[in-house]
Amino acid sequence: MTAQLISGKAVAKTKKEEMKAVVENLKEQGIHPGLAVILVGENPASMSYVKGKIKDCGEVGIHSELIRFPDTISESELLQAIRKLNEANAIHGILVQLPLPDHISDRKVIETIAPEKDVDGFHPISLGKMMTNQETFVPCTPAGIVEMLKAIGCPVAGKHVVIVGRSNIVGKPAGQLFLNLDATVTTCHSKTKNLSQYTKQADILVVAVGRAGLIGAEDVKEGAVVIDVGMNRNDQGKLVGDVKFDEVKEKAGFITPVPGGVGPMTRTMLLENTIKAAKWLKQNER
Ligand code: GUN
Repeated sequence: MTAQLISGKAVAKTKKEEMKAVVENLKEQGIHPGLAVILVGENPASMSYVKGKIKDCGEVGIHSELIRFPDTISESELLQAIRKLNEANAIHGILVQLPLPDHISDRKVIETIAPEKDVDGFHPISLGKMMTNQETFVPCTPAGIVEMLKAIGCPVAGKHVVIVGRSNIVGKPAGQLFLNLDATVTTCHSKTKNLSQYTKQADILVVAVGRAGLIGAEDVKEGAVVIDVGMNRNDQGKLVGDVKFDEVKEKAGFITPVPGGVGPMTRTMLLENTIKAAKWLKQNER
C-alpha cells in the first residue's frame, strides 16, 4: 500500500483563507487581533520560526509586533516586558520563543504571561483547563495535528493513538487532547522498553522525539496514520523527520511529510489562538 500524503501546507492554506475572512469581520466590529512575539538572542532556528510567525500574521491581517532582546537580558527585565504586554490593549496574544538562555527560567516566563493572552497554551492554567476538558488555548502543534486529521476525515474516537515523546510542548498535551477526543492513548518515551511493540499497535502514530530515522516500516501497522513531528537535519543538511518516510509511506495509510506536514499547521494554530484571544477579550468586556 502506498500512503496518501497529508499536506499540512495545503490544509494550512485553506485555514488561513478562512481566518482572513474572520479577521476582516472582527475588524468591522472594532476588534483588531494582535500578537506580540518575543525573541531573545540570535538562535538561527528561532529567528527563522519567528520570522514565519510574523509573516503569517500579515497574511491573515493580524497585527504583530516582534520584540527582540539580546541574550544578555536579565530574567527580571524580560518578565517586566511581558507584564507590560499583559496590559497592552493592542495585544491579545503573547508568545515568547523557546528555548531561552540558561539564566532565564522558562517556567517563570510562561507563568508571567496572562492566561488570557497565552496563545502558546503553555501556562499551567491553560494546561489544567485542557486536562479537565474546559475551553482554553490548546498548544499549537497538538491542535494542528488534530486539525489535519479532521481535514482527511479521520475519526479519533475509539482509535488507539500512540505518541512517541513526552515533551511539555507536544507529547504530553497531544496525549491529553486525544484523550479528550475519546481516543485510547499510549505515550512512549526514551525509557520505554521495546518501543516497536507499542508503535505497531497504533491506528494513529504521532512521533515527536527529534531523532532522524527513529521509526521504520517494521514499527508501523499496515494502513496506520503516521504523523511526523520531528525536524532534524541529516548529514546532507536536509530537513528530515523522525520517520523513515520512503519506507513507511509504503506501509502506512496516511503520512505527513517533513517539511510541509506538521510545521505549517503549528503556525496556523497560533493564528487561530490569537483570533480566539481577541474574541474572548471582547466578550469579557461586555
Ligand atoms: N519553540 C519551538 N516550538 C515552540 C512553540 O510552539 N512555542 C514557543 N514559544 N517556542 C517554541
